[in-house]
Amino acid sequence: MVRTAPTADLPPAELDQLRAFLDAAFRGGFSDDDWSHTLGGVHVLATVDGELAGHAAVVGRHLIAGGQTLRTGYVEAVTTAAAYRRRGVATALMTTAERLVAGGSELGALAASEDGARLYLRRGWLPWRGPLAGLTPTGIVDTPDEQVFVLPTPATPGDLDPDGRLVCDWRRGDLW
Ligand SMILES: CC(C)(COP(=O)(O)OP(=O)(O)OC[C@H]1O[C@@H](n2cnc3c(N)ncnc32)[C@H](O)[C@@H]1OP(=O)(O)O)[C@@H](O)C(=O)NCCC(=O)NCCS
Repeated sequence: MVRTAPTADLPPAELDQLRAFLDAAFRGGFSDDDWSHTLGGVHVLATVDGELAGHAAVVGRHLIAGGQTLRTGYVEAVTTAAAYRRRGVATALMTTAERLVAGGSELGALAASEDGARLYLRRGWLPWRGPLAGLTPTGIVDTPDEQVFVLPTPATPGDLDPDGRLVCDWRRGDLW
């Protein structure tokens, strides 16, 4: 079963459970900043027999591409519990996350892990080929080591160029 909930509708006990789930699924590689990036938008929660099996979140960000500032649905913290992998859970999560992105944003975007990249490619997300950068309090910095994918929506400008520069807004922790 897949459901959606804004962070505000998740009671504290469910948020605690979600944080523990993400810590386990990312095997200790999920920081307080990563958690912060996951909050404030809409969560997509997959359960199997009532047990949390997978999660994704869509949060609002602004990205700058080709001089245009795009209201972006940014997908965070996509993961399936180890016991439920390769059964289509992430595919179901992404179907819902993509619906949220397509209905409310001028672009979808995410930073992919190696595991995630195959999933996103299979679903039609486009690898960003141009240079990546981020806005910071001290100026624009290059962020060359990221693997970023975008998903055009009905509101994406027709001249979006995946070979151009893509700049993300500032936040604590990982910029992408
Ligand atoms: C990446 C990740 C989210 C994928 O989750 P998942 O639920 O296993 O994904 P799916 O089951 O939808 O698809 C995974 C594979 O299983 C296959 N699959 C889906 N349903 C299947 C089924 N019923 N039987 C067999 N294989 C199936 C898919 O075709 C896909 O194959 P591919 O990898 O060769 O393309 C998961 O591996 C994970 O949580 N990894 C650790 C955290 C991470 O890296 N997250 C991504 C951050 S960007």
